[in-house]
Amino acid sequence: MGMTTTAGPATPVTTDPTATATRAGAVGGPGLPQRRHLVTELPGPRSRELSARRDAAVARGVTSTLPVFVAAAGGGVLVDVDGNALIDLGSGIAVTTVGNSAPRVVDNVIAQVQAFTHTCFMITPYEGYVAVCEQLARLTPGDHAKRSALFNSGAEAVENAVKIARIHTHRQAVVVFEHAYHGRTNLTMALTAKNHPYKNGFGPFAPEIYRVPPSYPFRDGLTGPEAAARAVALIESQIGAANVAAVLIEPIQGEGGFVVPAPGFLPALADWSRASGAVFVADEVQTGFARTGAMFACEHEGVVPDLVATAKGIAGGLPLSAVTGRAEIMESAHPGGLGGTYGGNPLACAAALGAIETIERDGLVDRARAIGERVLPRLRAVATRVPAVGDVRGRGAMLAVEIVDPATGRPDAAATGRVARRCHEQGVVVLTCGTDGNVLRLLPPLAIGDDLLDEGVTVLLEALEALAR
Ligand SMILES: Cc1ncc(COP(=O)(O)O)c(C=O)c1O
Repeated sequence: MGMTTTAGPATPVTTDPTATATRAGAVGGPGLPQRRHLVTELPGPRSRELSARRDAAVARGVTSTLPVFVAAAGGGVLVDVDGNALIDLGSGIAVTTVGNSAPRVVDNVIAQVQAFTHTCFMITPYEGYVAVCEQLARLTPGDHAKRSALFNSGAEAVENAVKIARIHTHRQAVVVFEHAYHGRTNLTMALTAKNHPYKNGFGPFAPEIYRVPPSYPFRDGLTGPEAAARAVALIESQIGAANVAAVLIEPIQGEGGFVVPAPGFLPALADWSRASGAVFVADEVQTGFARTGAMFACEHEGVVPDLVATAKGIAGGLPLSAVTGRAEIMESAHPGGLGGTYGGNPLACAAALGAIETIERDGLVDRARAIGERVLPRLRAVATRVPAVGDVRGRGAMLAVEIVDPATGRPDAAATGRVARRCHEQGVVVLTCGTDGNVLRLLPPLAIGDDLLDEGVTVLLEALEALAR
């Protein structure tokens, strides 16, 4: 489907979100017309007015990839306050896996918001929280007895996984990896690898965090077992196996560059952890809930983690996260040792039950796999024509292109930025990532149709081809 462009007059910004959505010709959800349609340059005049208000009110530390203000979203499109319809290949960083305003999520949340909005599970409990934990026990890898605790953000889940691993093992050291991203709270800043913008100036950081190299096949050329042996040698010589509380790893590294480890790396680390009495923690915050063509990315290699941290795709856009794991490990934390005012909020739990039902009933695990099979060959084909495309990788609907300087093979963040900007100007939301800022990543909502997906990828391919001219 082709893009249409017509001139649009600038009119005053409204503060009434309903009026904005109406003027944009859109209410959210899958009923939104599934087409790219630009009526102004991007950002348009209303977005620019909102940006001016934002600059006067919002801290500059909070940035936006593409400063178009959204009025409605659904399926594979985002509609902005100027009436532009953009193709969404980012899902709000892997969150709206089921699509924005997915019907079962909306219905559940409406019913819940009318019943009650909050009691605090730690004060007077409610069924939705228990039902989400039951679903997590059913869906996460392994058929052992499990328990879960619910939180609000991915970072909070990771922090709690570390707390639980430490109290279970009575040990302190946490092993993390180069290129890791685990969040922006104090402990998760320490767990995260990249200094700027996540850590610079925000220290001091939490102690007892040790970083070792991951498996990064494009850069290290090692097999999975070789990369695991390298990491284990460092752990044993520099930390001591008996001191390790947890080995914490993203099964596919997210912010660090969509790095898919070589086969055998994850199983070897999981085996070493078990043999050493350390808790193997999978951070599936970005990879979980169908994103990679399996319910959880660990499944691709048959790895059963001791603890799994989840968030993002779990609840279709409402803030919810969880730690799920072996009952004997989870139960090490004493009563009252885990929790938080909002953790497992009833609206977020209702949304999660709707999102999980959608993933299963709509076959979204298969859909993610089909998206990968559809897009990867096109990305690989462009790699043969554009020397700056150093690597194409990913699983399911978590796909990436690593951009390098063809002369040196070194990461090229400037060229990566140019490609992303070209896509944004044409109304296609792609994201970048990577410790060196040189990776373009695709995280389309799994509710996107093939036509729109193909069109968005075509825009990306044209932007990549421009690097060769
Ligand atoms: C793997 C991983 N862990 C943790 C986090 C932190 O999640 P949140 O931003 O919800 O705190 C992220 C966020 O991108 C992530 O990708």
